[in-house]
This record gives sequence, C-alpha cells and structure tokens, in this order.
Amino acid sequence: MPFINQDLPYEANHLEPIISARTVEFHYGKHQAGYASNLEVLTNGTAFSDMDLISVIKETVFDNDEAAIYNNAAQLWNHIFYWDGLKHAEKAKTGGALKGDFAEAVKAAFGSEENMKAKLIEAAVSIFGSGWAWLVLDPKTKLLSIVKTQNAGNPVTMDMVPLFTIDVWEHAYYLDYQNRRAEYAKALVEELADWGVVQERYGAAMSK
Ligand SMILES: [Fe+2]
Repeated sequence: MPFINQDLPYEANHLEPIISARTVEFHYGKHQAGYASNLEVLTNGTAFSDMDLISVIKETVFDNDEAAIYNNAAQLWNHIFYWDGLKHAEKAKTGGALKGDFAEAVKAAFGSEENMKAKLIEAAVSIFGSGWAWLVLDPKTKLLSIVKTQNAGNPVTMDMVPLFTIDVWEHAYYLDYQNRRAEYAKALVEELADWGVVQERYGAAMSK
C-alpha cells in the first residue's frame, strides 16, 4: 500500500481565522507531504509497505534501526488525525455542550468540560520543543486522560486510544502566532475542535 498524502477533509481556508490558509498550505502541503513521500521511499520493497500506518508505528517504535520509518509513519498518522479532529461543520464553531456517555466520561475524569479543555491547553503549552498534546482513552480502565508526546510520539504505542490532538510543532502555528503557542492552543481547543468527531471516536473505542 503506498503511503499517499491523503486529501484534507476541507479546503485550506476552512480553518480561518484561527489557522490561516497559508499555514495549512505549508503544514499539509509541505511538511505532511514530506512525511508521506519519505515513508514511501523508506518502505519501498520492505515488509512495511503492505502495512497500515498504525501497524508500521507499533512495529517500529522500539527499534532504533527503524527510527526514520517510525518517525515518518507516526507523523503522517498524527497529522491525518489532527486535521480530522478540527471542525468539519459550522456547528463546531459555536462549541456546544458535549453529549451522552462522552460528556459523563469527561466529567468523571476532569470534573468539567472546561477543566478538560484547560488541561489540554496546559499540556500543549508545557511540551518542551516539538510534540503533541492528546486526549486519550485507556481501553482497559475506560478512563480519559491527557498525555503529551515528544516529536512524532503517538499514544497507540502506550496502548492508549487517541481521541483528539494538538500539534505543537512550530510549523503548526508559527506563521499565524509566532511564539504565542498558548494563544494557538486555546483557540484550537475552544474554537476549532470538532467535539462531535471526538465523541464519535470515543463511542467507537468504547464499543470494541
Ligand atoms: Fe505538524
């Protein structure tokens, strides 16, 4: 299976004014495209070329000899997941309360929706250097939590199910926010996160 840079779920200007079309064009069109093409070259003719991305990530995460494949596979998956968690529809712009079992799980883990969002933003701000802040589900305990990963890190390697992520590599925000990462993270969580998508991910994970 070739590792193609699959299409964004919306146009490049769809996330404005929080994330500019210019940022999306560089982030998706240059950085993400680079991960996809690197992975294609690195895996060509290997056993990894027939695997899905999650399998490649799990197979290579603890193997230093395969670090380049791991980094590019994880970065490609993380980016596809990141874009897909951002608003697909107008409704997400106005936020709206979380619903059903997911809302209950958020309340149980964080006390409130506001606190969950605050913790997510705090995690994004506190990552030293490049990485990702995640809302995850532990499939064993069924509890939600927030984790941080450095560089290309992905929570599936910790046996966690990712539900939402914030890319805090500078390429995700520097053109729009320069060094103001907190402003980017806050705007992303409060105005661009598609909680309907996150609820769907939670429901899918809980039904397994
Ligand atoms: Fe990125």
